[in-house]
Amino acid sequence: MKISFAKISVPAQGTVVFGVTDNGKLGPAAAKLDKRANGSISRAMKSATFAGKKEQTLEVLAPGGTKLDKVILVGLGDLESLNEAAAERIGAVVYKAVAKESAATVVLDVLRASANDGGLAAHIAGGVRLRSYRFDKYRTKESKSDKPKLKTLVVQCDAQASAKASFTSVSAVADGVFFTRDLISEPANVIYPASFAARAKALAKDGVKVEILGEAAMRKLGMGALLGVGDGSARESQLLIMRWDGAKNKKAPPIAIVGKGVCFDTGGISLKPPGGMWDMKWDMGGAGVVAGLMCALAKRKAKVNVVGLCGLVENMPDGAAQRPGDVVTSMSGQTIEVQNTDAEGRLVLADVLWYAQERFKPKTMIDLATLTGAVIAALSNHYAGLFANDDDLAAQLTAAGQIAEERLWRFPMGEEYDKELRSLIADMKNIGGPRAGSITAAQFLQRFVKNTRWAHLDIAGVVWNEKGTALSDPGSTGFGVKLLNRFIADNCEG
Ligand code: BES
Ligand code: MN
Ligand code: ZN
Repeated sequence: MKISFAKISVPAQGTVVFGVTDNGKLGPAAAKLDKRANGSISRAMKSATFAGKKEQTLEVLAPGGTKLDKVILVGLGDLESLNEAAAERIGAVVYKAVAKESAATVVLDVLRASANDGGLAAHIAGGVRLRSYRFDKYRTKESKSDKPKLKTLVVQCDAQASAKASFTSVSAVADGVFFTRDLISEPANVIYPASFAARAKALAKDGVKVEILGEAAMRKLGMGALLGVGDGSARESQLLIMRWDGAKNKKAPPIAIVGKGVCFDTGGISLKPPGGMWDMKWDMGGAGVVAGLMCALAKRKAKVNVVGLCGLVENMPDGAAQRPGDVVTSMSGQTIEVQNTDAEGRLVLADVLWYAQERFKPKTMIDLATLTGAVIAALSNHYAGLFANDDDLAAQLTAAGQIAEERLWRFPMGEEYDKELRSLIADMKNIGGPRAGSITAAQFLQRFVKNTRWAHLDIAGVVWNEKGTALSDPGSTGFGVKLLNRFIADNCEG
């Protein structure tokens, strides 16, 4: 879809969408059109009790006195409370209203050039784009009339120049979200460790330095925890390293973002039950977010040094698979008794977190992982779990989550929980007791964090949404890309 920005000039034909605020009054361009249409638009508003409330819509077909096919009114609510996330949700509503047209014009004649509402216009356009994502490459029998058609969208407003400028970065972030959604939507016979890494290589064209380590290199580094998870798989495990050095000082310590990339999680020898096991294709969601974030940062040329690291493995049962009770030695030197091969994400992260710190000495490290079912029991799909060893970092991430509407809820950590990881024969075991599973998982990760400012996001509940969200169809959400982009833009750039 092509999205462009222009000055206000209502077209004579086609489909036009007008933003309307909740004072119930049309903007100047819409009012002029209403006059030409002998008041048919304002009459329709009255008879439908359309009040311009946020996300409310009204469709007026072929208004008399004009050659237009459709006039659609979309409520923006109260302009004072309109923020970027609300603007994106309004954009999603616009998309739904015009998806079956080939072209549409959105007239935002109620936005104020004086208040520099260009950013809001850009986010409305961004919402249209985000909502337009579809993963339909494997549908061969869908009829043409069922497919969306929108190819061209023109957004008109007084602050068109600032809207256009803001949209460059809004759109870069949407590219990142799409990169993530694609990786997550693909089945595990298509996205496995090597093919995931190969896709990430495409980011080199935007200036991301991509490096891939195979099993031999990881063995040399002593990554016994990560490698053990892949023992039962016919696919080679990979460590994917992506660097974006956009800061003035290219040598300044980076932010490290680490992702769990279990391309399929059968549970291994501690096999999962078959019902719902197909969902475990998106157990690489954390890695998917890391790759999409790198894409977004590079495309908007963020002024920051970030290194993204993804531990990519497949957890399969096999004659070569690790067994419950096996002891593995991690890169840190700490030994782990693998009591449950289904608690594999933490084993992967243990080595990648250690490697990230040893090699890059990051000033902040954030990992994302579909780590535990327990976080879904606690928060459902409305919040991701947040764990951190630093209150400021936790607060910054929480605030970014509020703005991006990808919300985080912080859990406690502490000695009491860490004790549950004691093993009789090794430095630790990979599972705690039956309770507080998300916290004991985070405690396990913390054993591989040195003096680094660190946060862990358990995104098991939010990567995939069966019902769809305001900005996505049922399926992958891309949750995390906008959140981390916002965190970086607000706290780490400049
Ligand atoms: N990938 C799963 C967690 C998960 C479950 C993500 C459901 C998304 C939806 C993880 O590897 C896992 O299996 N965790 C176990 C840990 C347990 C064995 C300690 C879990 O949560 O049951
Ligand atoms: Mn598992
Ligand atoms: Zn898993």
